[in-house]
Amino acid sequence: MLNNATTNPLAEQKNTGVSEAQIAVHWPEEAYLPPTSEFVAQAYLTDTGIFARCAEANFPECFKEYAALLDWYEPWNKILDTSNPPFWRWFVGGRINACYNCLDRHLAKDKNKAALHFVPEPENELAQHITYQELFVRVNEFAAVLRDFCGLKAGDRVTLHMPMVPELPITMLACARLGIIHSQVFSGFSGKACADRIVDSESRILVTMDGYYRGGKLLDHKANADTAVTEAAKDGQRIDKVLVWQRYPMTISTASKFVAGRDFIVNDVLKDFRGKRVAPVEMPAEAPLFLMYTSGTTGRPKGCQHSTGGYLAYVAWTSKYIQDIHPEDVYWCMADIGWITGHSYIVYGPLALGASSVIYEGVPTHPDAGRPWRIAEELDVDIFHTSPTAIRALRRAGPGEPTKYDFHFKHMTTVGEPIEPEVWRWYHTVVGKGEAVIVDTWWQTETGGFLCSTVPGIHKMKPGSAGPALPGIYPTIYDDEGVEIAVGANTAGNLCIRNPWPGIIQTIWRDPERFVSQYYARYCRDRNSKNWRDWPYVTGDGAMQAGDGYYRILGRIDDVINVAGHRLGTKEIESAALMVAAVAEAAVVPVADPIKGKVPDVYVSLKPGTAPSKEIANDVSAAVITEIGSIARPHQVIIVPDMPKTRSGKIMRRVLAAISNHQEPGDVSTLANPEIVERIRDAVS
Ligand code: WTA
Repeated sequence: MLNNATTNPLAEQKNTGVSEAQIAVHWPEEAYLPPTSEFVAQAYLTDTGIFARCAEANFPECFKEYAALLDWYEPWNKILDTSNPPFWRWFVGGRINACYNCLDRHLAKDKNKAALHFVPEPENELAQHITYQELFVRVNEFAAVLRDFCGLKAGDRVTLHMPMVPELPITMLACARLGIIHSQVFSGFSGKACADRIVDSESRILVTMDGYYRGGKLLDHKANADTAVTEAAKDGQRIDKVLVWQRYPMTISTASKFVAGRDFIVNDVLKDFRGKRVAPVEMPAEAPLFLMYTSGTTGRPKGCQHSTGGYLAYVAWTSKYIQDIHPEDVYWCMADIGWITGHSYIVYGPLALGASSVIYEGVPTHPDAGRPWRIAEELDVDIFHTSPTAIRALRRAGPGEPTKYDFHFKHMTTVGEPIEPEVWRWYHTVVGKGEAVIVDTWWQTETGGFLCSTVPGIHKMKPGSAGPALPGIYPTIYDDEGVEIAVGANTAGNLCIRNPWPGIIQTIWRDPERFVSQYYARYCRDRNSKNWRDWPYVTGDGAMQAGDGYYRILGRIDDVINVAGHRLGTKEIESAALMVAAVAEAAVVPVADPIKGKVPDVYVSLKPGTAPSKEIANDVSAAVITEIGSIARPHQVIIVPDMPKTRSGKIMRRVLAAISNHQEPGDVSTLANPEIVERIRDAVS
């Protein structure tokens, strides 16, 4: 079961006053803001008839127009195959290549257009503007390396551990050209975290980079590859070759040694493949395009498996109609390509449309909070896409900075976490200069693309709300018993999507059972049913729907902490803490943070006979950083004499969460050791 009575935080929190849901339902509804008439006049989608065309009576045929945005070698013959729920198959019989759709088909008209604008973090380094023709050449040459030097073929997996550089989309597209399944690991993750993903995906090849800039430092990234290869080998997965891109061609930006016969500098290998062309491989629509590992309710990250045809159709459509990207626009999504937002809305969606997409290497506030606005001014960016965490950080560091620069956004996106109306208003008036329309897009790694958002040329904006469901998406909110919560009831519940859509993951890599149990078991009405209506998708998010149909997302109801828009499993952090020999138990809870949204507090109790010490707390922090990466850095490590426990021995995390957030822990009478609460509170203060 996904949630039972004792582990469902939403249920637990109801009694305690710490429920995000409860707080949220008392938030006042904000006033609407209409998009400007200039925006509406140029918007692709202003016909409200789209919602009738995509109503349930026309499902799944309504998704035909999504597939029609792509070029197919062979048209599909069945739009949706539901014969094996919940393993939906979209555009069955179709044959397609994602790389062809992102590159080759644009060359006739747009070979001279910038596909990518790369902005290095050091401000004295020039931006690179990579045309579609140049990208085509570089992708072909690297595809030849993958095929002829590495011996890879369609269906094989390759792990990428790449920073924000153009070589990352080049590598992804080269894989896609050959039907190779790429699995990009966020560059901020440690070598060990990379190893876990290498092992799970059974990759033999690791593609990485020698170094990259972050916060003013040239980081030695290749060192992580050495750890990854060693750690993966311990778990039985051998890496045959490590391909190392260079941050500065002709120079080696790493102190780590190159292992002969294993580690290769890509630019050296490429010399033998200059000018090579590789025909795109015609893949079935349902062939996996990539894996994206994400945190779930148990310690092991899960490999979300995205399809080729359905995924690409969904991100192309949403890029066109929700991002409203036109051929002449300069579009900048400031997410990291290591996350799903970057895959869908820096690489695949924009490039499928033949757009110009910006890649920025570094930290938004480096060297100061004016940096993004200088980039926007220089490149004349007119569509901007970022997260509430970045917006909060820029607002804190330089609230007036945007007014100093001459740039004009017509469209802005916020994604990844709920955004506070105050922060939204700064984004709108100061960054957007009152001119830009804002879409608050709600979605997940698993969903491939946006599920809830206003359509920017149709709907009014409402700060703090993601907006209604996208055309063709039919959400519902269930209470813990599976009863639908009425629209406008102002009650939080479990947000579910009743129908399949083309962007949904196909399964969890090598773990179909987990796919079913995680996303469908909870509210499935009949496990034998072939009718999609019996298989609602469980998002794991708490939400409420206002009377106007707009959804307000209240955060995760499973054991996931969303730090700065990065999803971390509490269990992953706990298992890292438990690697410190002195630690007996660990419990991780989210703490509200004005910039990052949430940060983890790590509570540990020690093994008997061990005295608490600053060293142990430091070791716990270090273990978390080694195992996961510095994004998971604990806010505090608190050594407690014992954990608050139920009589059955379960740690009551909600009590710890209340203490960390300076709230009342509520009813503690069900604890086996209620007296511990005061002692923990003392330890924290
Ligand atoms: C949260 C990121 C509020 C949500 C695309 C979801 C949001 C999780 C929003 C997915 C939003 C995403 N408003 N919360 N607009 N967008 N979330 O998989 O809790 O990294 O389940 O995908 O982020 O995170 P993921």
